[in-house]
Parts: sequence; C-alpha cells; structure tokens
Amino acid sequence: MIGAGNIAWHLTHEFTKNGIRIDKIINRNIEPARKLALETGAAFTNDFSVSNSDSDIIILAINDSAIKHVLERINVSNSIILHTSGSTDLEIFKGKANRYGVLYPLQSFTKYVPVDFSKVPICIEASDKHTLGVIMYLAGTISKRIHILNSEKRQIVHLAGVIANNFTNHLIVKTFDYLEKNKIDKQLLMPLIEETINKIEKDNPCEAQTGPARRKDINIIENHLKILHNEPELKDLYKVISDSIIAYYYK
Ligand SMILES: NC(=O)c1ccc[n+]([C@@H]2O[C@H](COP(=O)([O-])OP(=O)(O)OC[C@H]3O[C@@H](n4cnc5c(N)ncnc54)[C@H](OP(=O)(O)O)[C@@H]3O)[C@@H](O)[C@H]2O)c1
Repeated sequence: MIGAGNIAWHLTHEFTKNGIRIDKIINRNIEPARKLALETGAAFTNDFSVSNSDSDIIILAINDSAIKHVLERINVSNSIILHTSGSTDLEIFKGKANRYGVLYPLQSFTKYVPVDFSKVPICIEASDKHTLGVIMYLAGTISKRIHILNSEKRQIVHLAGVIANNFTNHLIVKTFDYLEKNKIDKQLLMPLIEETINKIEKDNPCEAQTGPARRKDINIIENHLKILHNEPELKDLYKVISDSIIAYYYK
C-alpha cells in the first residue's frame, strides 16, 4: 500500500479484515505509515523502492497530483499496480508497468470514521482481461457492488459525486454558519436534512422538489435575497440555485 491517508487507511483495514494481507505501508511521512502498520500488522517504510517487491498488487492510494511524480520514482516489475483516483486516466501507467488498473471506491472517506464497505460501489478498470479478473476478485472481498467503467465514464461519475456530495455538504456548512451567526440552534434543521435524503431514496428527486423557486414565487425569492444582503457568498449561491430550479421546471 503506497499512501497512508484516508483511502489507504480504509482499504488497509478493510482488506486486512477480509483476509487480504497488506505486506507493507509505504508513505512519504513515516508517522502515518507507522500508525497504520501498527493497527493492521503490516510492515512500514518511507522507502519507495518496489522493484524487488514480491507483493501481488501495489496500490497507489495517494493524491491525484502525486501519482505521476511517484510513478517516475518507482520501478514496477511483476506486480499489478493500481490507483484509487476518480479522475486519473488509466493510461498514466502506460510504459510504467505491464499490468495495471484502477480501484476507485465511490464514497467519501475520512480516517477513523467507519463506513459499511460492503455497500460502497467500487469502479474498476484494467490493462487487460486477466488483470481485470484479479481486481474484480480483490474488490469483491470488500464490496458487493463492483462496476467496470472506463476512464472517461469514471471521470463523469467522479464529477457527479463532487456535485452531489461535496457541494451538498458545502451548502449545509454555509447554512449552519448562517444560523450560528444569527444565534439559532442548527439542530433545528436536522430533520429537514434527513428527510431530503430519505425522499431521494424513496422517490424521484425531481418530484420531491419544493420551495419558492419550485413554485416560482418571485416575491419570496426577492425577499430572501434582500435578507441576505450582508452575506454575499450565500446570496450568490441562493440566486444561482434558484435560477437553476426555475429554469428546470419552467422551461
Ligand atoms: N478520501 C476519499 O473520500 C476518497 C474516495 C475515493 C478516492 N479517493 C482518491 O484516493 C486518493 C487519495 O485520497 P485521500 O483522501 O486518501 O488523500 P489524503 O488523505 O490527503 O492522503 C494523501 C496521501 O498521498 C500522499 N502524498 C501526497 N503527496 C505526495 C507526494 N508528492 N509524494 C508522495 N506521497 C504523497 C500523502 O503522504 P503524506 O502522509 O506523506 O502527506 C498521503 O499518504 C486520491 O486519488 C483520491 O482522489 C479518495
């Protein structure tokens, strides 16, 4: 396992739990590698030389921007090498290894925050059929939801995930800050947020949409924008999303 961040932490624990031995954690900073190795019984090092590795698979669980840089420094001989990125093309491995692939778990991971991995969709891709079989087996040890996607489709899924997860989360962060500034308990909103997610699971989100923009109630929208005159960022978000809702329902 190259990397000892969020995704490396989850994959190392999950594989170890499910009978896949992680031989060694390799990380630039030694301390996170040492910690993860102690938790899972792996060896650890900050030495990136893997040319004599007899591990079947090397997983590059590092920042997208570091993948190319690390690949320039290592020599892969017999092992299959994988990355875990949603937006890095499979071709990044071309000329660097004979057998390579992608294992991209579509979930938001943070170290020490538990996730039910059996429900996490894992998008896989490989240099050849045999390698694809190996990655499918590997991914299947930790999840029941394996999807074969090429790099182009994986990037689209990643982009969709950024909008659905990161942007929704950011809207909630901004909303909570706004309530806090006005000395209102943010817990008041929790049942509404929970219901938003429940409704998406049960119904078509298109039909679940409510609110002033859905009703095209311009008076309320203008009033809200007036109230937000001291909150320029929130005001811009409010306007952009309201305009998008109106355009969607009143084409
Ligand atoms: N977290 C998620 O929710 C998630 C989900 C799916 C896929 N992914 C993908 O998984 C990959 C890792 O994400 P992450 O969330 O685990 O990131 P992270 O927690 O920030 O960890 C980044 C890891 O990359 C290493 N690294 C960064 N720059 C490096 C460099 N120049 N040379 C060598 N190592 C370097 C870091 O080492 P140091 O400890 O030495 O800094 C650390 O081990 C990314 O491609 C990401 O897109 C993440």
